[in-house]
Amino acid sequence: MHRMEEINRRTWRNPIARRDYRASTGFINEGERLVFEIARKRASGGRILDIGIGGGRTTGLFCDIAADYVGIDYTPEMVELAQRNYPQAQLAHMDARDLSAFGNASFDLVLFSYNGIDSVDAEGRRAVLSEVSRVLRAGGTFVFSTFNRNWHGFGEKRARSSIVWSNDPLRLGFRLVKHAMGLVRERRFAPLEQREGEHAILLHRAHDFGIMVYATTPQQLRAQLGASGFDGDPMLFSVDGHLLSGGTLPEEEYFHVVAYKPALS
Ligand SMILES: C[S@@+](CC[C@H](N)C(=O)[O-])C[C@H]1O[C@@H](n2cnc3c(N)ncnc32)[C@H](O)[C@@H]1O
Repeated sequence: MHRMEEINRRTWRNPIARRDYRASTGFINEGERLVFEIARKRASGGRILDIGIGGGRTTGLFCDIAADYVGIDYTPEMVELAQRNYPQAQLAHMDARDLSAFGNASFDLVLFSYNGIDSVDAEGRRAVLSEVSRVLRAGGTFVFSTFNRNWHGFGEKRARSSIVWSNDPLRLGFRLVKHAMGLVRERRFAPLEQREGEHAILLHRAHDFGIMVYATTPQQLRAQLGASGFDGDPMLFSVDGHLLSGGTLPEEEYFHVVAYKPALS
């Protein structure tokens, strides 16, 4: 198993990391609100596949507009958590790299929110894009977000989280220990980063340096989408909801993507 895969899987299964997804609802930012609005319009009354549901935040946003909604996650504990939050929803334990449980062209919309797609390595990403493209109908929509390789926080001065003060000594102690463990993880995992070649695998501060992510550029993303059967000109939005154009996004930590499968002519 790729080291990145081991690190990420361990984090998603960790009860402390999972706490962040336990009761999360609504949108993570304005960019997501905008792309979800586009997604809801395009898939209302249709079939939706929601990948990497975590605690079910997006299940709450999409399951009632679809004729058929299926949510999946490769972390069994996340599926249990989401099922507890949304007992009526159809949820399953499944890896996005193998969607063989679903037929070709069987969904109108596929979602992979909050940079979940970046948890897998380059080979895994190609598999996810190819599987999503296969299960989407012609004219269908794929909405996701992905890390920006050129974000300054991935650069020489790595972005770190700060400790939030608490007057409760137990809570503060817990935060200090978590933070210290994060610094230990940073020292261990930073040498595993890959910054050369087509893509970058980078250590991210989320979950106290508990995840390594695939980070991309808009140019590379366009080429990858095109090679997987999507229209090679997706709509990209910043986290604060601006439609982005051009090749570089120096200040964005990540960006939202609305990609289309070309309609049959
Ligand atoms: C950052 S969390 C986002 C959770 C949720 N989508 C949200 O926005 O609140 C990423 C989720 O994607 C899941 N995930 C990552 N890689 C996956 C894969 N290859 N197949 C299915 N789920 C995956 C993880 O288990 C985790 O629950």
